[in-house]
Amino acid sequence: MCGIIGYNGPRKAEPLLIDGLKKLEYRGYDSAGIALVEKQGIQIFKKEGKVAALEAILPEESCATIGIGHTRWATHGAPKDRNAHPHSYGKVTLVHNGIIENEQALRTMLKNQGLSPISDTDTELIAMLMDHCYRGDPRDAIRAACALLEGSYALGILFEDHPQTLYAVRKDNPLILGLGEGEYFIASDIPAFSDHTPAYCLLDEGEIAELSPSGLTLYDRTDRIIKKPHHIADFGDISTVKDGYEHFMKKEIFEQPSVVRKTIDRYAENDRILTELGEDFRVDGKILIVGCGSAYHAALLGKNALEKYARIPTEVAIASEFRYSDPLLKKEDLVILISQSGETADTLAALRLAKEKGVPTLGIVNVFGSSIAREADTVLYTMAGPEISVATTKAYTCQAVMLYLLAMKLAHRSPAELKELPQAIESALEQESLCQKLAEKYASAEHLFFIGRGRDYAVSREGSLKLKEISYIHSEAYAAGELKHGTISLIEQDTPVIAVITDRTLLPKTAANIKEVRARGAQVLCIAPKNGLLPDCDRLDLPDCNDLAAPIATAVRCQLLAYYAALARGTDIDQPRNLAKSVTVE
Ligand code: F6R
Repeated sequence: MCGIIGYNGPRKAEPLLIDGLKKLEYRGYDSAGIALVEKQGIQIFKKEGKVAALEAILPEESCATIGIGHTRWATHGAPKDRNAHPHSYGKVTLVHNGIIENEQALRTMLKNQGLSPISDTDTELIAMLMDHCYRGDPRDAIRAACALLEGSYALGILFEDHPQTLYAVRKDNPLILGLGEGEYFIASDIPAFSDHTPAYCLLDEGEIAELSPSGLTLYDRTDRIIKKPHHIADFGDISTVKDGYEHFMKKEIFEQPSVVRKTIDRYAENDRILTELGEDFRVDGKILIVGCGSAYHAALLGKNALEKYARIPTEVAIASEFRYSDPLLKKEDLVILISQSGETADTLAALRLAKEKGVPTLGIVNVFGSSIAREADTVLYTMAGPEISVATTKAYTCQAVMLYLLAMKLAHRSPAELKELPQAIESALEQESLCQKLAEKYASAEHLFFIGRGRDYAVSREGSLKLKEISYIHSEAYAAGELKHGTISLIEQDTPVIAVITDRTLLPKTAANIKEVRARGAQVLCIAPKNGLLPDCDRLDLPDCNDLAAPIATAVRCQLLAYYAALARGTDIDQPRNLAKSVTVE
């Protein structure tokens, strides 16, 4: 949610900030703004809409070499110019990612001091508070204001009296420091500056970063100068540009054979799997996998494999439910937190809750150095590379693959079956034009159902989410046998139903459910084995592949269906309305 970029160095800041905002736009795209430290003082430009709308109002020529920028996903107040960041009060100008939970109390406190904000945001209150605490020393003001904040924040801050310096601080929201040659960046995510430098360091909670022309200085909670390790970002052969594809989503769909291969090669060498967990790794209690959205759906596939192969009882929980459910956990259980961004607020809170209860935690995360990666007892990185499209594709498949690897390890099975996965995904991608044709046929539907059983229900849920989030066709996924317990009343003439059958043992059962909806006029698309004998249906045939590869390769077919349905409807595929990539608020 919301993207922050800041620059301090010898180059002109404006183009660097705009370029960074474009790279961060997947995090929020309701409005955007920048603040530039010009000779005449700090100048703010902000605009409702995408970064392109902001660009249109920028001055011809800016000489500023220091500035901050923000792309917003609205939480407090509508996406209007006045609510866009940066916000300024008195001597303080700042950008914010996060949510201030004691906003109401702060509003009242500031009002009692005779101060009134002009926007509806919680961010402006931070600027007011910081200005109120400011007595000439920016770090003192930052600490004093932050001490009064409840909630989460990453902040890039400029002080009018210190025009050479950019400050950064964070709590429960990401902020990374980019380290160039005599120039420095702050950003919510590495791709915002990785064209300029691969070197970065991570800011921890309670620390303050001071970026000035003489360098980057980090201070701990007690204002002592500290040194931190530097890292080098390595995206390998995965670039953060579209590489000729019309959309990042399509590019990322087509990267799947390669990133899945990379993930398997990284963690399975001959019969040795996930050696970083240790040779004797075992779980004596149950496994609980926690995630949100597609990560939760990957967890459902993982549960299927962990129970089927390793015979370990596995539960799956939606992170936002888990954290308030007073969960029953024992020390011999394992809690797995699964997250592409590693910053999802509810998943992070679930991790902290599990740790409080003394249960071992394992993070399966895509973004290096993210909060979940840093806080989990053990972390395993998916090798998906940067995912830019808001709707996840390659990160989801890699998450499922990681859970499969874990299942194979705990079951003491050879990972050989997994090696078929890249090829199975290739076969799915070869059906692109058929997927497009079918998607175009169903693209005018208002409502649609997915049905499946067992692991195919898990795939159906992901297929349904993908379709609705990018095409805006209302879609629901049902356990195939459950539809007749109420929801079948919604099936009428020509209602589209997509039936997923990768599990041959369940084919006759789901086939019976297909007949039930056909009898009520539904038009059915079957994603099923070639010789499945399912008459009167559109078909997307599944070539022979093993039980682990088939569901993932089917999820890829569903991604293509969703992509082409969205394309036919002309929606904003990479940045669907109301969404943001990294959900750092609960
Ligand atoms: C759907 C999608 C979301 C994410 C969810 C969790 O396409 O991308 O449902 O899967 O917000 O995000 P992470 O994995 O970053 O925790």
